[in-house]
Amino acid sequence: MTNALEIKDLVKFYGKRQALNSISLTVPEGEFFGFLGPNGAGKTTTIHSITGLAKYQGGSIRVFGYDAVSDYRQTRALIGFVPQEFNFDPYLTAEQILYYEAGYFGVSKKEARRRAAQLLKQFDLYTHKELDYRKLSGGMKRRLLIARGLVHEPRVLILDEPTAGVDVDLRKKLWVLLRELNQQGMTIFLTTHYIEEAERLCKRIGVIHQGNIIALETTEKLIEQLGKHVITISLDRRFPEIPRELRQFGIELAEDGNTIRLTKNEVHLNELLKAIYAQGLNVTGIDTEKTNLEDIFLGLTKEK
Ligand SMILES: Nc1ncnc2c1ncn2[C@@H]1O[C@H](COP(=O)(O)OP(=O)(O)OP(=O)(O)O)[C@@H](O)[C@H]1O
Ligand SMILES: [Mg+2]
Repeated sequence: MTNALEIKDLVKFYGKRQALNSISLTVPEGEFFGFLGPNGAGKTTTIHSITGLAKYQGGSIRVFGYDAVSDYRQTRALIGFVPQEFNFDPYLTAEQILYYEAGYFGVSKKEARRRAAQLLKQFDLYTHKELDYRKLSGGMKRRLLIARGLVHEPRVLILDEPTAGVDVDLRKKLWVLLRELNQQGMTIFLTTHYIEEAERLCKRIGVIHQGNIIALETTEKLIEQLGKHVITISLDRRFPEIPRELRQFGIELAEDGNTIRLTKNEVHLNELLKAIYAQGLNVTGIDTEKTNLEDIFLGLTKEK
């Protein structure tokens, strides 16, 4: 299988400050990859290293097999880049922005016009195509930023917080768009601070913290390995210790003496309840708590 991105032992300093501490990660073609981490962790620095905007001091980056430094022209053409901040020429119209970007990548004028029109329609910008960038709303600018990243038909789309400051409605529309692109075969590398977004979209997740990759797993496994499913059952009687008949269920007794906790093994819940009733006990309450990616993420970054 081809790898869209192959980052090996990447080291990046800004002056004396080390921003990336020898990170490695591979994204196979077709994957929807999420790159998470707190502010200042090194996400944008990693992306800028991939796209050639930042020089790095150690390691290597390959994009579909091409080296990001020595084969810069090839790698840049394979990448669609959606930056964290708007960097449009303020005097161009939405249409011109797309048209010129295509030209920059050597697309013919006729084809550039066709693609610009198609993307303007796809991103609901067609009726605003004559407006210059400054007159677009924040949400329109976001959409234009993504459209611009696609105009030269890249094979991997790298998005640096594409939904920051975007309202819920537009965010959901962007999710649909990104999912569609991915289903059509586009590899996607996404950074986001919205955990729900990563949980819903990404097949695999890398977590970076202080320039180190501290987790790299499928989204499912990350939640399964680090997540917890806790069921709390309140009983109508207090116990000094877990009654012998209930011990086989691997439960814990809370300090109050009448609350028991069951971690993970939800399969046993039914039998546990039967055993409780068989003891002549009554259940006065049940509570379940499932950790999500948010908790895992907080735990991971706090620990290190
Ligand atoms: N041009 C620069 N010059 C000097 N230091 C920089 C530069 N760009 C980033 N840094 C530093 O490198 C570290 C990583 O920054 P980076 O922008 O990659 O973080 P990030 O994970 O993208 O954070 P955020 O979520 O806030 O966008 C930070 O300590 C930052 O201050
Ligand atoms: Mg950033």
